[in-house]
Amino acid sequence: MCGIVGYIGRNDAKEILLKGLEKLEYRGYDSAGIAVQNNEGIHVFKEKGRIADLRSVVDDNVLGNTGIGHTRWATHGVPSKVNAHPHQSTTERLTLVHNGVIENYSILKREYLEGVQLKSETDTEVIVQLLEKFVNEGNSVEDAFRQTLTLLKGSYAIALLDKENDETIFVAKNKSPLLVGLGEEFNVVASDAMAMLQVTDQFVELMDKEMVIVTKEKVTIKTLEGTVVERDPYTAELDASDIEKGTYPHYMLKEIDEQPAVMRKIVQSYRNDDGSLSVDEDIIGAMNEADRIYIIAAGTSYHAGLVGKQFIEKMAKIPVEVHVASEFSYNMPILSEKPLFIFISQSGETADSRAVLVQIKEFGYKALTVTNVPGSTLSREADYTLLLHAGPEIAVASTKAYTAQLAVLAILASVTAASKGIEIDFDLTQELGIVANAMDVLCDAKEEFEEIARNFLSTTRNCFFIGRALDYYVGLEGSLKLKEISYIQAEGFAGGELKHGTIALIEEGTPIIAISTQEHVNLSIRGNVKEVVARGANPCIISMKGLNEEEDSFVLPEVHELLTPLVSVVPLQLISYYAALHRDCDVDKPRNLAKSVTVE
Ligand code: M6R
Repeated sequence: MCGIVGYIGRNDAKEILLKGLEKLEYRGYDSAGIAVQNNEGIHVFKEKGRIADLRSVVDDNVLGNTGIGHTRWATHGVPSKVNAHPHQSTTERLTLVHNGVIENYSILKREYLEGVQLKSETDTEVIVQLLEKFVNEGNSVEDAFRQTLTLLKGSYAIALLDKENDETIFVAKNKSPLLVGLGEEFNVVASDAMAMLQVTDQFVELMDKEMVIVTKEKVTIKTLEGTVVERDPYTAELDASDIEKGTYPHYMLKEIDEQPAVMRKIVQSYRNDDGSLSVDEDIIGAMNEADRIYIIAAGTSYHAGLVGKQFIEKMAKIPVEVHVASEFSYNMPILSEKPLFIFISQSGETADSRAVLVQIKEFGYKALTVTNVPGSTLSREADYTLLLHAGPEIAVASTKAYTAQLAVLAILASVTAASKGIEIDFDLTQELGIVANAMDVLCDAKEEFEEIARNFLSTTRNCFFIGRALDYYVGLEGSLKLKEISYIQAEGFAGGELKHGTIALIEEGTPIIAISTQEHVNLSIRGNVKEVVARGANPCIISMKGLNEEEDSFVLPEVHELLTPLVSVVPLQLISYYAALHRDCDVDKPRNLAKSVTVE
């Protein structure tokens, strides 16, 4: 959460920073700010709202070759101009932006900053005031920075400017993502390479508890003990067009439409020359050694984990537990003797998942990360990584990453099964091809889903999704999608569970979206629909070809029964999208949310 950029070099920093922040807006969008430095000093501009709002207050006449910027997702203090970053020390000598949470900020304030008047409610301001205190005590800015960093508990990515030195950006990170980008006679800083692809594709990863001195000619990485660290840059393999909306009105719609292509790309990426599917043999070795798999994830990725469990248990015959990352440490199950942990995370940065990863690594267990972002924290810190190959997902609502997660988990399950000599009665490569074709059909049926959204959801205040077996998990994902972008109170239920309490909420006209793709539960779910219709509900049944009945609102093209979640979720994504549009919601940037949740 929160996005950071920095630039030092030959051009005016301002436009590069603003463009960079626009690319990072998915990380938080309640307020934003930049600081531009020139030989007259540091000029700070901040505003509540989006980068567009910030642009309107930036003075075009201020030019500078150095600067830092920030887009915020509030943790400490309401979204406001005062709480927006950058924050400055009392004398305004030091200016910084910060992503993360300083857990001991009130202790630090009490112990070190007595008498210092803080302007904002943020934890960040404590950092900049501590820095000034140590500088005032006679330390260089670099030493003061080091001293401050050793006192901080929690997570941080920081970029710092010193008014008396317009040739350096001081940078540090711990648990929050931050990269340094390299150019000719300029260097940059960014939370995500996407922000600075406009000027470079060469990046250097930073590790926790490192600090970096960035000038326009040089990047010097040091440990907090002062040892210089050498690290080669890597090329960010992102195409600038991947991160543009093109002709689409919203990233979410573009990303929904990309799903068939993502399916084909995944098959291609995990296919051997002989056409068989393959996964790194160390990963398959770890799967085979495990006596139980623990999937850890949050939000949509958790929902993918629920389906992934079915894939692994049904194909590879290994028992699987799925856990919400933020709850795992409090309710840790009795672990098996040889567990393997699988972390599912689109961003690879989710703090709740990372906290579990750190914990289980301390126990000495092996971990596999399934992620869309190579080089992300969860990928770096796990023993193994499986990539989603979905291309950047920018809309806050996850769509193509979910279906990519399912496809990759299915491949993992089937390759593990093959390695154990377990025969699977279908050809996964071929079936994923059929899934891709079915997704094409669904993406072409947008008008029908717009109509369903209009008929069922344009004025309702709530909505229930029901399903049984695999369809139940898809219902959970459908309800998350709907509530997150349309703000309709939506809940997913196992079809049989509704009458154990929640049916009390059914009123005349309450929309119920029922999914029926599984033959063995088709009659039962239809029975559940009848129960709610008898109490006034307005049913929208989405069924699979072959199981369909006359009253159904939409019939899905047929795919293999185990793979139906990859297809049945697409209508739910599109219905949610159109429901949000009909209600005038900001589809790509829903209120209170951010794409990457990097605070616990
Ligand atoms: O990056 P991750 O997959 O770890 O993110 C987990 C959740 O924050 C994420 O899936 C969230 O639920 C989405 N916004 C849902 O659309």
